[in-house]
Amino acid sequence: MYKKFLDLGDQPLANSFFFNCNFSKKKIYKLKVKINLKNFLVSIQNTIPKQKMFNAKYPYRSSTSFTMKESFRKLAIKILKNFNPKLILEIGSNDGMFIKNFNKNMVIGVEPCKNLAIETRKNGFKIFSNYWDLNLAKKITKLKKFDIIYSANTITHIKNLGSVFRAISYALEKNGILIIEDPSLMDCLKLNAYDQFYCEHIYIFSAISLSSILKEYNFEIFRIEKLKVHGGSNRYYIKRKSNKDFKIEKSYKDHIAAELKYGLKNYTIYQEFKKRVEISKNKLIKLLNGFKKKKLRVIGYGATAKSVTVLNYCKINKNLISYFLDTTPDKINKYLPGCDILVKRYKKLKKKNVDIVFLGAWNFKDEILRKEKSFISKGGKFITHIPYPRIL
Ligand code: TYD
Repeated sequence: MYKKFLDLGDQPLANSFFFNCNFSKKKIYKLKVKINLKNFLVSIQNTIPKQKMFNAKYPYRSSTSFTMKESFRKLAIKILKNFNPKLILEIGSNDGMFIKNFNKNMVIGVEPCKNLAIETRKNGFKIFSNYWDLNLAKKITKLKKFDIIYSANTITHIKNLGSVFRAISYALEKNGILIIEDPSLMDCLKLNAYDQFYCEHIYIFSAISLSSILKEYNFEIFRIEKLKVHGGSNRYYIKRKSNKDFKIEKSYKDHIAAELKYGLKNYTIYQEFKKRVEISKNKLIKLLNGFKKKKLRVIGYGATAKSVTVLNYCKINKNLISYFLDTTPDKINKYLPGCDILVKRYKKLKKKNVDIVFLGAWNFKDEILRKEKSFISKGGKFITHIPYPRIL
């Protein structure tokens, strides 16, 4: 049984950046969030066909953040040391930030967005530009199966989880290890990070819900690492139940206990989240209106998919945030989806141009504040809505 607990209004595709701002026509779906009371999986109610979201125009690049590059680099070292794999597969390799840490002959990427696949191939890596499913799994394992399958921020983007895990089960060696990482539901609720919900994030996993799904495919989580990236993520280490090389570790048991204690199996937790989200919306609008009254110059930083949810849910327009800055080439000089707010090419912040900066990429707060030290030291201010709207 499903229960809806959050309505974030009419929304556009979160990564559909356009040169014109004919925004009213581009709000194409109602963003509602529900929970499955059987396995406690949280998902969005209305989904968009994958071809509309993940295609040759996909703008997002992992390489735009130092934090992600570092996170992938450290994981690659750990994988080589702990598992000594001969062959690795990455599902959703984006612009190659993870696989570039390995020898070209020991790693294969799957990336349906052709622009990103082409870019990574240029660096000599083998990339299949297809959506992940059993047909592809069969095609790429003709010679050998994988010792490690890794996927970051991708599995939650695929609607048919059955198809995903059946294909993984086919492609993984008998004692191979699956590692997936995605935003954590518990962190999302704790931080009031309602902007983790948008068309691409079909699911926000908890260890509880993921364990329940994996069981159906004879997989189990044996280790969980908590990560700071993407606003709080979990990295799940998964094995076949039949694999006795690894025991279920304390990190898994502790994590499940923490999720149960927080109340992820109680519907009231989700109702309370909804109330906090509404308060957050009102506070953010009030804060921005206050700046406007004082004639302060407000811009945004990081034209994230998350910002798209915030701006459209809170109905924020260019009267409140003049423009956004971003480093992503395919977002520059285009409008934030659903809004009349333009994305401009990133330039170091200067107090003479700007007073207040809304942190769209709040998940990279430390990296960004470090970069903009000089702006802050001259009295420039950042604001965030996480965990509640305030000046930093
Ligand atoms: P991110 O938060 O990873 O994702 P999502 O779009 O999934 O919500 O996006 C970060 C965005 O912020 C991306 O468009 C690049 C931009 N960015 C900057 O412009 N400057 C920076 O210093 C950083 C870290 C990110």
